Formats: sequence, C-alpha cells, structure tokens
Amino acid sequence: MSETASIKLGDKSYNLPVITGSEDESAIDISKLRDITGYITIDSGYKNTGATKSAITFLDGEKGILKYRGYSIEELASKSTFLEVAYLLIYGDLPTQVEIEKFQKDISRHTLVHEDMKKFFDGFPSKSHPMGQLSSLICSLSSFYPESLNSGQTAEEQNLTIIKLLAKMATVVSWIYKKSLGHPIVYPQNKLDYVTNFLNMTFGQRTEEIEIDPVVVSAMNVLLILHADHEQNCSTSTVRMVGSSECNLYASISAGISALWGPLHGGANQAVIEMLESIKADGGDTDKWINKAKDKNDSFRLMGFGHRVYKNFDPRANIIKKACDEVLEKLGVNDPILEIAKKLEAAALSDPYFVERKLYPNVDFYSGIIYRALGFPTDMFTVLFALGRLPGWIAQWKEMRENKEPIGRPRQIYVGEVNREFVEISKR
Ligand code: SDX
Repeated sequence: MSETASIKLGDKSYNLPVITGSEDESAIDISKLRDITGYITIDSGYKNTGATKSAITFLDGEKGILKYRGYSIEELASKSTFLEVAYLLIYGDLPTQVEIEKFQKDISRHTLVHEDMKKFFDGFPSKSHPMGQLSSLICSLSSFYPESLNSGQTAEEQNLTIIKLLAKMATVVSWIYKKSLGHPIVYPQNKLDYVTNFLNMTFGQRTEEIEIDPVVVSAMNVLLILHADHEQNCSTSTVRMVGSSECNLYASISAGISALWGPLHGGANQAVIEMLESIKADGGDTDKWINKAKDKNDSFRLMGFGHRVYKNFDPRANIIKKACDEVLEKLGVNDPILEIAKKLEAAALSDPYFVERKLYPNVDFYSGIIYRALGFPTDMFTVLFALGRLPGWIAQWKEMRENKEPIGRPRQIYVGEVNREFVEISKR
C-alpha cells in the first residue's frame, strides 16, 4: 500500500499521494491539491518544493554527496574527461571508446562560429562583462541556425542542435576573452581534444600553436566536470522554465547564462576573488570581515560560503581545495590570497554563527584561485562556470522535453488592493 499524506482543512481531511525516488527521497504529490481542496501551497524561493522528477543528478546536502547518473563526483573528477561527463549527462551512460571518438569528431566539425557573428563581438564596448556578451551571443545562434526554432525537431535534428551548441560555446568563450585583450581570435584546431582546443583558442596565438601544459589541461577538465550539473539550481530551473514554453535550446541556455550571472549564484566565483582582494588590501584582518558577515546591519556576505542544499561540506569544494594546492605548486604560482582564503575558511568554520547556520565553503570559494593561476581574468570566471554547466543545462532541457512536461506557470496568493473606484486624472 503506497504511503499517503493527510491534511486537515476545516472539518475536512484529504489524502495526498507520496512519491519516493530511487535514492529514497520522498515528496507529497500536490498536483491535484487545488482541484480537491481549492487551496494552493506557497514556498518563496522553492526551498521545500520539487519542480520535477529527474534521473540526471542526485545530491544529498546533509551528507555532502553529489552523483551524475549514479557515478560519484569524486570518481568522475579523478577518472573522466569533461567530454565523457558531458556525454554521460546528456545521453545517460558513460561512452565507449567508439562513442567518445564519434562525439569528439561530431563536435570538432562544428567548432567554427559563423563569420557574421564577429560583427556582434565588435559591437560590444571593450569593457562589457563577458557574461552579458555570452548570453547575447548564445541566443544569437538561433538566428544563424533557424532550424533550431522548430519545436518539433526529430531526435537527430535536436541532437545536431546540441552538438553545435557544445562545439560553438567553447569557441565563443575563447573569442570573448581574446576580444577583452584586443587580441586577434584563434580559430579551432580540430585535431585537438575539446579542452585542449579551448585552451589553445584562449591562450594561443594566431601565428603559432602553443604547447598547452598538461597540468592546465587536467585542472581545466576537473573544474569543468565539477561544474557540469547540479540538479534544480537557479539557472537550471531557468533553462527548464524557458524551455517548457517550447522555446529553442539556444534561447533557453541564454536565459540560464543570465540567471547564473547573479553574485548569489554563479557570479559568486568572481565575487569571492574580489572579496579576498579587498581583505588583502585592507591588511588581511579576516576576523574583521567575519564580523561584518555576521552583522545583520551590514550587507556584506562571505562570498563562496553557504548553500541552499548543502548543509554539510560541498564535495566539489573539497576537490577544488585539494586541486588548488597541487595546481599552484605544479605551476609554481604563489598566490597570497590563497592563504587569506584558508585563514578565512578556518575562522568561519570555528565560528558559532557559521556553524549554527551550517555555512560551509561552496564550489565557488576556491575555484577562482585556480582559474587565476591558469591565467584567466576575474571577470571570465563565471563564463567558465557556464561552459562547465552547459552539458547539465542541455541534459535537463532534453529530459524536460522528452518527458513532455507542461509549461511552467506557478500560482500566487494576491495581497494587493481589492476594488478601487476609478477617478479621472483631473480629480486625483
Ligand atoms: C552556487 O543551488 C545550487 O546548486 C547552486 C550551485 C550550483 O552548482 O548550481 O551550487 C552554485 O550558486 C553556489 C552558491 C554561491 N553563492 C555564494 O557563495 C553567495 C554567498 N552565499 C549566500 O548568499 C547564500 O548562502 C546562498 C544564496 C548560497 C543560499 O542562500 P539561502 O539558502 O537562501 O539561505 P539564506 O540566505 O536564507 O541564509 C540562511 C542564513 C541567514 O541568516 P539568518 O537570517 O538565519 O540569521 O544564513 C545566513 C543568512 O544571513 N547566510 C550567510 C551567508 N549565507 C547565508 N551569512 C553570511 N555569509 C553568507 N555567505
């Protein structure tokens, strides 16, 4: 007999079905609540509300567990490449050797961006934020590939749209970086693997092929894998919401990029470095800044700390913190803000304010230090988060479409004026 939840409203009782997932999470199914009771639920920020059933990513915030399609993030980060993980998230299984070679070849064929898109790059002011550029440029792909607008695409047509997006996003990201330097763009080299090709387009020169340090390639693969998906976070929920109106993939992903930009979400990795730089410039007094973060009258928050779901350590933060020491040592980089970050973390983790609220370092706390050591400027960090999150967004959009989920349209409780008499403007 399946479990039910009973609610009592006035003198009536109602039973609602309970569903349980494959990792023993349970939910009260309220899809018929309004029909049978006339009531809706309300949950600002959806802190207690599930939007969907998904088979892509599982995370347990209390235990600090993160798995993509049943594989632990620790195992994928240490044994897979980003492209293999992208394949896993989108198609559901880790690829065979034949499958990954075909995937890489398909992507390599589509790395070029339409030459007319370069006119868009030239139109942006030189100091415009890379995330604003990325969101615009990815949406503009729907203009160059109008077949993507057809919501009735066959599986093959949809897959080609997916391949084009995976291929071209890396090229667009590298061109945004080159544009910020006023340097000539570097075209894709299709004999290179996905991550090496991205790094060559980003740090290479048009005239020569640079030797990409294997340490940098390995660190980039790990960082992209760690960011690849995270179930129903703000930007992924945005991609699903926009996609639920049968909007094309490019515009749906563009909306996700915009949502990720916010400093409370993906923009935190840039905000962390800016915070650490401020603390360093202020003399490195971490206790002063911890107190500011605790002060309700001070808007300062400890960026890179806290999480809606993780009420224990963020497993990605643990992996990145370890990689930080390894990468900086191998590259011979000594970054004083790493020491400030560690001092800040230690102080926060022993402070009752943070302990009581279960605020731990999240994925954004250390990632910027590695990005910086790899040579990326701070305002490119969130763009790198978006490049990593792309396969997850695509997988979630694809799952939502395949499951024929209805257009997203939440309800509300109205609290405004009721009946007002209209008064001519001359008499107001
Ligand atoms: C990402 O959802 C995902 O999965 C996101 C992500 C992904 O992979 O997609 O993991 C990526 O976005 C990570 C989070 C990056 N953002 C930051 O690092 C920004 C700093 N952190 C916060 O602003 C905050 O912790 C959030 C936004 C991440 C979570 O906010 P919640 O869940 O809405 O919690 P809250 O704001 O209600 O905070 C609860 C309490 C409050 O204090 P009280 O009102 O109970 O006294 O904790 C306090 C908050 O003031 N608090 C902080 C804090 N974060 C929460 N106080 C100081 N510094 C902080 N960073």
